[in-house]
Amino acid sequence: MLRYLTAGESHGEYLSGVLEGFPSGVGITPAYISAQLRRRRLAPGRSARQALETDRCEILSGLGRGTTTGAPIALLIRNSGRQLPPASSLPRPGHADLPGMLKYGTLDAVQVRERASARETAMRVALGSFALRLLELLGIKVRSRVLALGSLSAATPESAAALLLRARRAGDTLGGVFEVTAENLPAGLGGFAQWDRRLGSRLAAALLGINGVKGFEVGGGFALAALGGRAASGDPSFSGGLDGGMTNGRALTLRCAVKPVPGLPGGALSTDLRTFKKKLSVSKTSDTSAVFAAAVVGEHAAALELASALLEKFGGDSLPELRRRLDEWRKDTGKILRRL
Ligand SMILES: Cc1cc2nc3c(=O)[nH]c(=O)nc-3n(C[C@H](O)[C@H](O)[C@H](O)COP(=O)(O)O)c2cc1C
Repeated sequence: MLRYLTAGESHGEYLSGVLEGFPSGVGITPAYISAQLRRRRLAPGRSARQALETDRCEILSGLGRGTTTGAPIALLIRNSGRQLPPASSLPRPGHADLPGMLKYGTLDAVQVRERASARETAMRVALGSFALRLLELLGIKVRSRVLALGSLSAATPESAAALLLRARRAGDTLGGVFEVTAENLPAGLGGFAQWDRRLGSRLAAALLGINGVKGFEVGGGFALAALGGRAASGDPSFSGGLDGGMTNGRALTLRCAVKPVPGLPGGALSTDLRTFKKKLSVSKTSDTSAVFAAAVVGEHAAALELASALLEKFGGDSLPELRRRLDEWRKDTGKILRRL
């Protein structure tokens, strides 16, 4: 089983993260992690402030001569040029601000924002890079793509750029849908004996755990509700690679709906918790859409769950040990699956 934790604030000195239970023998370079972080940081729809970050990841432990050792992996990303904004008793609508202020008994929304901010997802991507690399070395391909940006479906980078520009000029923001797929997964990951062993419930938690993600579906998802059983069962892709909480040997397909970024450049009406006067909460540096960046985070969050499920099923403290067991399982189950 893999476990991970992150710490750090948006305007703090750094973000840190620990990944534990990761096998030895996985070769990974800082350049590989940087490339993943760059995909998140420079995704379409992000604000100009992203250019100020470098997102250079320092590997503090768990790596020796470029290969994981089996020891806990500790990572650090320094925040560059960040000054803590002044205290504010004006919660931003659609954010963690109001419930967070009530929860922690504070009149300073900044105290809440600092940790609730999606800046933290940079560390999830850095930790997820290790899972992605492990899966890649075992021939399992995890990918993500944006299926819709606002009302535009199958967004191409060109059409998305035009739509984002139009939204930005109009002082608006956009939501969207992204998909995460995993190919060449062995059958039998996850379980059905308890609800929390079901792989679908674990993937849902990981993906709904991304800031701004409000919808999750597997395979045919919500569209299945309108279909007759005959039509639905005729298409194996409707299962999305999961049956009974376990991988079934087919490609895994997950989709997430991301809400439009709530931080509007023209402001959104809120109530100051000190004065109870109505005031505009203005977000000048907000992203126009988080969907492209969230897709990258989703890919890494899913990779962490899949790698964890793989390690639970096959054990193995080192990559060669894990690979041997997985190859044997693939050979055995392949004999059956190929004949279906
Ligand atoms: C990578 C990423 C970047 C985001 N950037 C912004 C932003 O610039 N401005 C904003 O208002 N929301 C942004 N969001 C969305 C907010 O973090 C999210 O709306 C907020 O956490 C509340 O969402 P929740 O109700 O789903 O938790 C971003 C989300 C992600 C994943």
